[in-house]
Amino acid sequence: VKMILNGNITERTEIKIDLEDRGYQFGDGVYEVIRVYNGVLFTADEHLNRLEASARSIHLTMPCSTVEMKEQLLQLVEENKLDTGIIYLQITRGVSPRNHLFPGAEVGPVYIAYTRELASPTAAMENGVKTITVEDIRWLRCDIKSLNLLPNLLAKQKASENGCFEALQHRNGTVTEGSSSNVSIVVNGEVKTHPANNLILNGISRQVMIRLCTDNQIAVKEEIYTVEDLIGADEVFLTGTTTEVMPIIEIDGKKIGNGAPGPITRQIQTLFKAEIE
Ligand code: PDD
Repeated sequence: VKMILNGNITERTEIKIDLEDRGYQFGDGVYEVIRVYNGVLFTADEHLNRLEASARSIHLTMPCSTVEMKEQLLQLVEENKLDTGIIYLQITRGVSPRNHLFPGAEVGPVYIAYTRELASPTAAMENGVKTITVEDIRWLRCDIKSLNLLPNLLAKQKASENGCFEALQHRNGTVTEGSSSNVSIVVNGEVKTHPANNLILNGISRQVMIRLCTDNQIAVKEEIYTVEDLIGADEVFLTGTTTEVMPIIEIDGKKIGNGAPGPITRQIQTLFKAEIE
């Protein structure tokens, strides 16, 4: 199986990552996860543009243009004969003796990308999933898709240990997002999701969902809502690259609606499916 290292397609076994790569030591880098359906990249431009924006936010130079990157990714998917799965891309600030200060301009970024087969989570999307709420203990730049995921990992692990699929984070009573997905509620037929500011990652799937709602006369608002609103909502669902559109049927042991995926969520799932086919 092949992967990309700094723009070259190489056998995975040939690749060596340095002990003093800043991604490894500091989490000093950014990443993306892009879906591949039937060999076709889904919303690749949106993901690559967000990668560029994340890189810019941490003063990291992109190793090449997003256009070149996309060409390489298409080639990688073809060489690996990937049908349905994901591409993981990561850029770190490169290799230099450990020091909190950025290295000089002579040190270039380390860019890697590889593919993995991954089916759509069809059973969970059909039946819905259980979740818990957790306090959002992250920093104030959650809009950057940074490699620093420790709070997200702690949240996801807690969810799993409680027999749940995802942890829904809240900050000062306001629901922000999942540990690796965005969350939206439906109240009286209207979809509500946290505004795209510094407190959440502006998910590409979230943006697709908003567009699909707008184009199909489903009322949608980017507005904050409380944990109380969340628990009392008619429907709740997640969106994300690996999660797609996922109904939530239980939060902290309490049933949402009648405990089964709701009609608006089902409609959005259908619209989303049509989008990727
Ligand atoms: N996570 N919020 C967070 C914190 C995320 O990590 C993700 C994606 C999302 C959804 O964004 P998108 O729709 O663009 O995938 C929201 C990826 C899949 C991951 O870390 O594996």
